[in-house]
Amino acid sequence: MSERLEMQIDGADLDKDDPVLEVSGLKKSFGGLVATDDASLQVERATITGMIGPNGAGKSTLFNLISGFYEADEGSVTVNGTEVTGKEPHEIAREGLVRTFQTPRKLEGMTVREAMMVGPQHQTGESVLPLWLSPSSVAEEERRNLERAEELLELFEIDHLATEMATEVSGGQLKLIEMARAILSEPDVLLLDEPVAGVNPTLAKNLAGFIRELNEERDLTFLIIEHDMGFIMELADPIIVLDQGRVLMEADPETVRNDQRVIDAYLGGAE
Ligand SMILES: Nc1ncnc2c1ncn2[C@@H]1O[C@H](COP(=O)(O)OP(=O)(O)O)[C@@H](O)[C@H]1O
Ligand SMILES: [Mg+2]
Repeated sequence: MSERLEMQIDGADLDKDDPVLEVSGLKKSFGGLVATDDASLQVERATITGMIGPNGAGKSTLFNLISGFYEADEGSVTVNGTEVTGKEPHEIAREGLVRTFQTPRKLEGMTVREAMMVGPQHQTGESVLPLWLSPSSVAEEERRNLERAEELLELFEIDHLATEMATEVSGGQLKLIEMARAILSEPDVLLLDEPVAGVNPTLAKNLAGFIRELNEERDLTFLIIEHDMGFIMELADPIIVLDQGRVLMEADPETVRNDQRVIDAYLGGAE
């Protein structure tokens, strides 16, 4: 039986070959500054796609536009074949796309375990689960989530922090917690904004391993912004290069590394 047929029988209208994320002609200006300038790209399902570019190239802005944290001036975003342009972050998360932040948001007044349980959508205005609908199934889901939260904390080797206040952990640990929370919401595509910035080299190496494992075992798609060239070149394929708000090129790491336009963009940047 063909894969395509199986997918249909499963009741899903998703085609495995369709891109999980499509960005078309996105534009965003801040006053006179054009941060995103007609950016278009596709992320293929089950890939680890990298995104690089000099400081100020518009990488984080693009993530903010894709995930609904900023509203685009023009252009469209499609996740799993559904157009999500103009939707709220929690609605986009429901379509299967979740992101982490370059600077993790503060998790005030809760332990690491509690932070895991409220999930990444919590801070984006989504209401709590409708308890009155079916209390027993909600309780069941809570239990399952708690179990999975513990598993992820163990996988990331931060389970000893479960009862620590989330404000007390290091910046690197907070990055791992953010990623664990994002994974807990079972996305199809996970956008990571500089996951190893501020993370020590051992942890960074582990993180690359987790990403690979999640990608291979669960077909989780990653789009990863990273400044650490060694990290991203080894982990991701393809790599998308952003420069001045536009996609400069997309290719395999080796081609990107040797492309004169990429070298020029970095040398011409403020690095
Ligand atoms: N909220 C904002 N308000 C004003 N300017 C912004 C805002 N966010 C980003 N910018 C500007 O947009 C440009 C791209 O920034 P950013 O997307 O953070 O780049 P990168 O992540 O590639 O380093 C920069 O010039 C930055 O100062
Ligand atoms: Mg950035």
